[in-house]
Formats: sequence, structure tokens, C-alpha cells
Amino acid sequence: MVSLPTSLPNHCPLNDSPESFFLFHTFLALPLSVTHNTDIFGLSSLSRLSSLSLMIEREEFEATEPVTTSASPEERDFEFSLRPKTLADFVGQEGLKENLNVFMGAAKKREEPIEHVLLYGNPGLGKTTLAHIIANEMGSQIRVTSGPALEKVGDLAAILSNLQKGDILFIDEIHRINKTIEEVLYPAMEDYALDIIVGKGPTARTLRINLEHFTIIGATTRLSLLSAPLRDRFGMVHHLDFYERVDLATILRRNAGLLKTPIHEDAVELLAMRSRLTPRIANRMLRRARDFAQVKGDGSITPELCRDALKMMRVDEEGLDAVDRHILKTIMEKFQGGPVGLSTIAAATQEEMETIEDVHEPYLLQLGFLARTPRGRIATDRAYQHLGFDIPEQNRLL
Ligand SMILES: Nc1ncnc2c1ncn2[C@@H]1O[C@H](COP(=O)(O)OP(=O)(O)OP(=O)(O)O)[C@@H](O)[C@H]1O
Ligand SMILES: [Mg+2]
Repeated sequence: MVSLPTSLPNHCPLNDSPESFFLFHTFLALPLSVTHNTDIFGLSSLSRLSSLSLMIEREEFEATEPVTTSASPEERDFEFSLRPKTLADFVGQEGLKENLNVFMGAAKKREEPIEHVLLYGNPGLGKTTLAHIIANEMGSQIRVTSGPALEKVGDLAAILSNLQKGDILFIDEIHRINKTIEEVLYPAMEDYALDIIVGKGPTARTLRINLEHFTIIGATTRLSLLSAPLRDRFGMVHHLDFYERVDLATILRRNAGLLKTPIHEDAVELLAMRSRLTPRIANRMLRRARDFAQVKGDGSITPELCRDALKMMRVDEEGLDAVDRHILKTIMEKFQGGPVGLSTIAAATQEEMETIEDVHEPYLLQLGFLARTPRGRIATDRAYQHLGFDIPEQNRLL
């Protein structure tokens, strides 16, 4: 029998995920004064700045983490402060916004909660932000959980049975939900009911608990890992694309304004060019450039200071970071440019296969530096040129 806990599980997946734990420890291992004798979770900007100025003096540029790492807890607070709260402030993704406006407008007219929404796309493109915006626009309460945080059926049952009419349940990383829990979601999403088995063996019987009419917003970076029955239960499935450079420029200008930091127009263009077409990375670069402006300049962000910040982050002119370049170099040097399978690349670079597929590959494909073939990944001529390597003879003959 599923026993229902009386209170909600109080672990917030956004605060105590294994990923944060990993990041915490990775960060502590860095031989830098940035983390020295400081509580990383509450790192004051003053000590961050003084550490930064030390790093700048000693030119310890090589030691910072790649720009593509997931957001640290400290960065999440920063992201939160810059997160747009309304659809009007959400820049870009015009098609998606238009659909959402119609969808929400119709639900409001009918005075009904909106249908379940599934958002998918690469990390940092705004899935979580949109989920909060939808809740805000609908005047709904939002509860947040994630696939890996829902360990027992009871966890989900407790959350669902506590939802009020119109509430939104945001399930991040929904592709990582386990099968047993997924099966509980089917009737919950379709019939607003929980089917609970009471007892064991021949005396077991099913108890149906009715739920309020709620909405699930699921987010995933991997639509292909979602089972068809789960995907089909979403009334609206939306893809978030990489952003246009003009949209990133708008986001950068707006956020520099929110941070009360003057920024030169050339600096906006430079950061927009190099931010991997991703708002999270743009914000990350803006923050670093602001630190540089405070330590090395008069507080306003100039293109020169941006270049220093980008150098420190080891981001090149195309927005590639050290890990992207390592992946490309490995394919070129160890596998003659490919084709080579993803698992082999992961083993040779010591990067997680999932990270390569979710974070690095989409951008390299977008730039045309990598090609996907049935036999594996290939480094293209453009990648050879970008890294300053000679294009192999066999490619010239193609
Ligand atoms: N369209 C946008 N306009 C303005 N800012 C945006 C937009 N999209 C994302 N951002 C900014 O980028 C940050 C990262 O977005 P968010 O956390 O929503 O990404 P995500 O898709 O949920 O990423 P992940 O897959 O890693 O969970 C947000 O805090 C927000 O400040
Ligand atoms: Mg998210």
C-alpha cells in the first residue's frame, strides 16, 4: 500500500540536487582564492571581487571553470534576480509566446486551468523561466519538483493531493522520472485521479482519489527520452530554440540596466556574439564583465573589459569554451576527424556522454563545426580552420 506522507517532501530539487553537490565539491577543489575560507553558498560579492582582483593580478586565467557548466547555487540566486516575470519581458521565441498567449487567453475566458504543457530545449534557454511566467500570468500557485527528486510514489501522491484547483506543478527534468511514478501520472493528468493500491496479494484493491483540476508543466532537455504515453498527455508541446543575436543583445541591455551597470553598445554586441545563443551564458558573461568593470575599470562595461573577462572564461570568438575545443581536438587528433561514436568521444575526453549531447554538441552542430552521421560524429573543415589545424587530405578529396 502506498502510504501518503502528511507533508510535502521538503527537499527542493533546485537546492539539493546531486549536481549542486558535485559542483560544490568541484569548486572547492579549485586551487583558487575565490573559494578560500568562504561559504560558497553565501559568497559575498565583496570577497568575490577581491579574489577576482587577485586572480587578475596573478593572471590565473586558466583555472576558471568552463562557461558551459550548470548553474551553481550562487548563480541561481543571480539568475533568479534577472528572471523576467511576464511574457512581455520574455525576449525572443516569438512563435512560442504567441501560442502561449492564445492558449492562456482561451483558458482564462473559459475560467479553466490551462492544459498540461511540455517545454523542451537545451539548457539555459528559458524553460524554468517560462514555467514561472505561465504561473504568474495565470495567477496560479506554482509547486516545483523534478524527475529525480520524485523517488517514491508517495512523494508524488502527496504533492498531487495537496494541489488546489488551477495550481501548477512544474516537473523539471521530467525525462528522469521513474517508470512506476510515471504510471501514477497517467490517470492524474488525464482524469485528475490517483489510483492507489491498498493491501497486498488477493486482498489488494484499488482506491481512486479524486484530485483538483491542476496543470503540469514539464521541462526536459531530452524529448526523445520521454515515453510516448507521457508525451501524449501534454496538450501543448513546445520547443525552445537557440536565440537570435538581437534578442541576446536585448536581454543583455535589459539586465545591465537591472544591475545598474552602464554598458557600451559594442560590449553588448561582443557578448551577444559569444554567448552560445543562450541567455544563461549571456547573463554569466555579463556578470563576469561587470566584476571586471568594478575591479579594473570605473564600473561601466567596455568591449576591452569584456575581452578580458572572456579570456578568463577561455571563451573564443565563436563562443566555444575549453571543453568544446577539447572535444573537437580529440576527434581531430585521436580519431582522424571521425566518424566516431559519442560514447568513444566521452571516454576519450572524460566528459559525461549526457553533457556532450545536451550542452556541447547542439552548439557545435549549430555552428557547423560538427556533423552527425549514422557512423558517428565528424569534425568539419570549418572546425579545422577555426582551431588552426590543417584540413586532412582525405577531406580535401571529398
Ligand atoms: N527569453 C528570455 N528573456 C530573458 N531572459 C531569459 C530568457 N530565457 C532565459 N533567460 C534567462 O536565462 C536564465 C536561465 O534560464 P532558465 O533557468 O529558465 O533555463 P532552463 O531552460 O530552465 O535551463 P535548464 O535546462 O538548465 O534548467 C534565466 O534565469 C533568465 O534570467
Ligand atoms: Mg530549468
